[in-house]
Amino acid sequence: MAEHPAYPVGLRLTGRRVVVLGGGTVAQRRLPALIAAGADVTLVSPQATPSVEAMAEAGEITWERRPYAEGDLADAWYALIATSDPDANTAASAEAERHRVWCVRSDDADRATAWTPATGHSEGVTIAVLTTDAKGRDPRHTAAVRDAVVEGLRDGTLVAPHHRTRTPGVALVGGGPGDPDLITVRGRRLLAEADVVIADRLGPRDLLAELPPHVEVIDAAKIPYGRYMAQEAINNALIEHARQGKSVVRLKGGDPFVFGRGMEEVQALAEAGIACTVVPGISSSISVPGAAGIPVTHRGVAHEFTVVSGHVAPDDERSLVDWPSLARLTGTLVILMGVDKIGKIAETLVAHGRSPETPVALVQEGTTAAQRRVDATLATVAETVRAEDVRPPAVIVIGEVVSVGPRPAA
Ligand SMILES: C[S@@+](CC[C@H](N)C(=O)[O-])C[C@H]1O[C@@H](n2cnc3c(N)ncnc32)[C@H](O)[C@@H]1O
Repeated sequence: MAEHPAYPVGLRLTGRRVVVLGGGTVAQRRLPALIAAGADVTLVSPQATPSVEAMAEAGEITWERRPYAEGDLADAWYALIATSDPDANTAASAEAERHRVWCVRSDDADRATAWTPATGHSEGVTIAVLTTDAKGRDPRHTAAVRDAVVEGLRDGTLVAPHHRTRTPGVALVGGGPGDPDLITVRGRRLLAEADVVIADRLGPRDLLAELPPHVEVIDAAKIPYGRYMAQEAINNALIEHARQGKSVVRLKGGDPFVFGRGMEEVQALAEAGIACTVVPGISSSISVPGAAGIPVTHRGVAHEFTVVSGHVAPDDERSLVDWPSLARLTGTLVILMGVDKIGKIAETLVAHGRSPETPVALVQEGTTAAQRRVDATLATVAETVRAEDVRPPAVIVIGEVVSVGPRPAA
């Protein structure tokens, strides 16, 4: 018989009888997709693996505990033949042929009338990969092609914009602390599909260089704000671009809702009637200490961590932070935006009861190639910051957790 390529098709099996012969590992691998497709599955097999048995117990399939018998495939729309008895497999595929039931054979792809593709899913599409003909069948290769496509779509390295379902609007994407690998899979995909990206100074700036040339990249710090406040100007830019029917990504450092003013943007977009999705990000408050070898909690050392903004000094009337209470806590303090005010902060913590010997670490530009960790104590931190010229952005960690990890290489 001349070798023709298989004809790919998607079977809609909801409520339709599908017969599976053999309850071993092949059935175990294939049954979940048949169940997910809504098929009315009957398994014919004297034995089954514990997972297959569990599917029967859960009522997801009907299990007839016996060997294959002539007539089992009558009325079936589709069959999977996977018993350990070659004669039964041959007899069953002959029956399938007579009844014109498409059938997959686990033991003999040549004699099968259908092949199961390597499948994967990504945001509303199913990727199904088949080898062109029986001679070239190489299941590992088809699985590898499937994995490459699914992974590429998930992480945005394969760009396939949604044209029909893509709705204009804004995605507020947490970009993580700076390392381009630390953005979420969803964030990266949305970035790859954007028409316009409005980005902050912090976050994975390297990703911007990878965007296709038609994508308009706007530096949020450079948006002219004339009579507006900077934040209002950013909100207006988001609204304007979305109103032009564009797909806009607002790329922020860390997580949008951790000192990121993310909710102000969500509110402004809601008021303007513009759809907005929020994609959480890895906040620098946890990831930057972690990248420098500092756990924010540790068994027997710290049962809590508190993330605090240090952008205004403790004695500043605009401060919303109860520093005396923080001084009395025994857990970890993580301070963002605190480099300039760390002297005053350390002084206040000591004045309200924290030991001057409490370890402090400052991690500058965490997760990037320029990451630097400087250690001190509450008593010495102000002088250390000056002497070592520590600059923002830095995360400051105060507490015994600073000392629990292996000492960083000098
Ligand atoms: C305006 S806040 C934004 C925080 C961000 N939304 C987050 O969840 O990480 C900026 C502060 O985050 C900290 N920060 C952000 N990225 C950092 C990094 N890669 N290394 C050190 N500190 C960082 C610094 O304290 C910086 O001043």
